[in-house]
Amino acid sequence: MSYLKGLVCKQCGTRYPADRSFVCLECFGPLEVSYDYAKIQSHLNPKIISQREENLWRYRELLPVTGEPITGFHSGYTPLVRSRRLAEHLGVKELYLKDETVNHPSLSYKDRVVPVALSRGAELGYSVFSCASTGNLANAVAAHCAQAGFPCWLFIPQDIEAAKISGSLICKPKVVALKGNYDDVNRLCAEIGDHYGWGFVNVNLRPYYSEGAKTMGYEIAEQLGWRLPDHLILPTAGGTLLPKVARAFQEFTDLGWVKGKCRIYCAQAEGCAPIVRSLHQDLDYINPEKPRTLAKSIAIGNPADGIYVLQEVRRSGGWGEMATDSEILEAIELLAEKEGIFTEPAGGTTLAATIKLLRQERINPEETIVVAITGNGYKTLDVFESPFEVDVTLRPNLRIFHEWYEGQQALPAGAPA
Ligand SMILES: Cc1ncc(COP(=O)(O)O)c(C=O)c1O
Ligand SMILES: [Zn+2]
Repeated sequence: MSYLKGLVCKQCGTRYPADRSFVCLECFGPLEVSYDYAKIQSHLNPKIISQREENLWRYRELLPVTGEPITGFHSGYTPLVRSRRLAEHLGVKELYLKDETVNHPSLSYKDRVVPVALSRGAELGYSVFSCASTGNLANAVAAHCAQAGFPCWLFIPQDIEAAKISGSLICKPKVVALKGNYDDVNRLCAEIGDHYGWGFVNVNLRPYYSEGAKTMGYEIAEQLGWRLPDHLILPTAGGTLLPKVARAFQEFTDLGWVKGKCRIYCAQAEGCAPIVRSLHQDLDYINPEKPRTLAKSIAIGNPADGIYVLQEVRRSGGWGEMATDSEILEAIELLAEKEGIFTEPAGGTTLAATIKLLRQERINPEETIVVAITGNGYKTLDVFESPFEVDVTLRPNLRIFHEWYEGQQALPAGAPA
């Protein structure tokens, strides 16, 4: 049974069948999937959902796939971690971390969007898949294509983190590194997609791909016991995630499954913050920027869905903040020290922005706060200028350890070892 109705232009409302279309022929606006919500409501409810397997397909009626999904059977349903020590440190009452560092199998939020793009793309007859990526998306496309057995081509900026490149290569896709930034890569991919007829998950499959991001919103609401948080802070690059989580909350509200109102905040790195600057300057357009930040996964200077981020942040009563590279690194360390979660710079940016929003009293510390930690720090060890060092290296001998230990105890507190 299909709940998928078609595609609708986000700008002018023109309707299209749910085929390979991805831009409006009338106004060049992006297309978005529409569903038969009355039918969904008569077949689905929170109780049914809560009895299903813990992966993103538990919400399948609200996703644009009509047949059986192809991948993603262990993707999504990541932990919503109730923070104790970080909450105490920040002086907030109820803090949760949506932990995408353990998403399956490629350790970022991109494990949500790719299974939806591939499953729908296969239904539309694509047999080769591709993407323009800052690293995490390439990892997800490589991994899910490997599982499905699809040939795959990845296009990345040449200067992204080594572990992100290796994490893709190990799955044996074709990888093309380009001498330019993400925005240059994306421009080329639009042309290649036209020419070669490949399914570019975030270009010509974007209307379907982006729907996968809604599952983060569904999960947050479900994991909070079918309610919305008061505040949600999300990192933003191209602008897929934030408007789709807003849409997820709206859908659950319209279906009558959750109550409340969530303020949504956008976090960016100061070296690439075109959306946050538009929020701060009260603009309704985006001034593209040339990225200069260590937060490479979110270094998109010309965000495709930037204006929709502005709209949703404003509609929700939220705001945006940016973090410098050193604030991002400090936040990465703070999160690990207080909660044992090792994030990449996107998560550091989000936590650093949250700290600023709390200081500015834009977020009430007595209310429910969710911070999205969207990617894994093991992929971005290169961001730390000096490598981590152990406290000491010893021969494996008890007397030697003992001597060293006693020496440590004799040092005044705070002295270097
Ligand atoms: C770890 C991580 N978080 C957040 C984002 C931002 O997502 P979006 O492009 O949906 O705004 C990305 C995008 O690449 C990412 O890799
Ligand atoms: Zn249109």
